[in-house]
Amino acid sequence: MCTVTNITKPLKIGYTKICKCETNHINCMTAKEWLKSQVAVWELYYEKRDLRDKNQHPAVFPIALPAKCIELFTHKGELVLDPFVGSGTTLLAAQDLDRNAVGFDLKKDYVELSRSRLSQTRLGNNSQQIAIQDDASNISEYLKDETVSLCITSPPYSNMLNRPRKNKSMRSDLRKNEHYLTVQQYSKDPRDLGTMKTEEYTRELGRIYERILPLLREKAHCVINITDLWWENKRITIPMSVVETLRDVGYELRNIIIWDRRNIVNRAGIFGWPNNYITLGTTFEYILDFWKPPH
Ligand SMILES: C[S@@+](CC[C@H](N)C(=O)[O-])C[C@H]1O[C@@H](n2cnc3c(N)ncnc32)[C@H](O)[C@@H]1O
Repeated sequence: MCTVTNITKPLKIGYTKICKCETNHINCMTAKEWLKSQVAVWELYYEKRDLRDKNQHPAVFPIALPAKCIELFTHKGELVLDPFVGSGTTLLAAQDLDRNAVGFDLKKDYVELSRSRLSQTRLGNNSQQIAIQDDASNISEYLKDETVSLCITSPPYSNMLNRPRKNKSMRSDLRKNEHYLTVQQYSKDPRDLGTMKTEEYTRELGRIYERILPLLREKAHCVINITDLWWENKRITIPMSVVETLRDVGYELRNIIIWDRRNIVNRAGIFGWPNNYITLGTTFEYILDFWKPPH
């Protein structure tokens, strides 16, 4: 359920477990399901409802990604937060899994897109999913301390989108598609993390996550999907800066998961051959899993 009128400060949204499983379990999984989830390399598949049109949103993750994290780190009825919600994928996953969820995005169009995607499914459960147009810096105005069981997002990858797209990972005869040389940035808003160079970006991300930390329950997980960038033949290791920044503001890194994207990449071009060995960056991304350390 998502209505625009239910946005109050703080939000009236549920955050307590409604299932019958043990309170000391971190999720509703059986031992068998848990066993499968221990593998640190994840392969995920897109489904029909996933958004693949870059004109609607340039950087969407598959519903399967937040769904897997929600199943791993929450119980039914608990509260999920996505500080950079984009097209609302995390909210859809939460809706499917009967979790309450709130997502923030600076851009009105994306918030409207999230709401429209949510309204396309009506499930018979009482959980609420809310998309709010605001800067992620302001999230603490909306949520009470120690109510969030999972914070999950894919933030902007610094200012990666703020340059003409060259489609370098694609085969040369396919590069000049409709997106070739277009700039697909989210917005020109100076608060948009996607407009910032790496140093300013990590500083700002740290500031946002420092404010989110009190909202998380003790041992609540905080998952960030992110990847390295290439700029002028140099690898920009944004995930490493993000790990350091989050540690500095009080989070503890628990797991590094590799999202194996080989099932998504097709018709790739040859990179660097024959004298500059560069792996195809589009074949994997990091899923960094932190938690709020116990008191
Ligand atoms: C990688 S996208 C998220 C995509 C999302 N996972 C999905 O599946 O649609 C990052 C989003 O962060 C938003 N954003 C950038 N800076 C922000 C800020 N300061 N506060 C809130 N949202 C911001 C952008 O508008 C963009 O939609």
